[in-house]
Amino acid sequence: MKGVLGLPVAACIVAFGILAFGIGGFDPSARAQEAPPGDAANGQRVYLADGCFTCHGRVGQGGNYYGTTPTLAKTELPFEGFKQQMREPVRVMPAYSQAVLSDKEVADIYAFLQTLTGRRPVKDFPILNN
Ligand code: HEC
Repeated sequence: MKGVLGLPVAACIVAFGILAFGIGGFDPSARAQEAPPGDAANGQRVYLADGCFTCHGRVGQGGNYYGTTPTLAKTELPFEGFKQQMREPVRVMPAYSQAVLSDKEVADIYAFLQTLTGRRPVKDFPILNN
């Protein structure tokens, strides 16, 4: 019996399980504890000085300046994954080596991003609630 894309149904179930629980299933409370302490004020300075804002927006809102660029405000990435994206970006983002962006500066940016407003619920926008 064949499932999606001609793959056996059992393979699809396993793949779905990995997607649903393997990636999304980490505990958010563990995330904050894993992040090294960062200086949010310096993080904001580096975020602006090193040009992150040109693609990701001044308040981490993301955009379409360079293809679709993800929102960074209140990022839910664990710190290690966040840092990995600086060193070896998954797609088209330029890499930032340790020589141009230290681990400390990455931690500072991470701390800064946690201070931003992030996404707001629809109820906060009166025009969407008429
Ligand atoms: C030239 C545009 C550009 C610049 C400058 C840039 N980024 Fe990105 N960033 C991207 C794009 C596009 C992606 C989507 C994934 C990819 O292309 O690797 C991304 C992905 C990310 C992600 C993964 C977010 C997620 O939720 O998947 C993080 C974290 C990130 N960038 C942080 C930064 C930081 C911090 C800086 C500055 C040191 C920075 N980026 C500079 C374009 C940019």
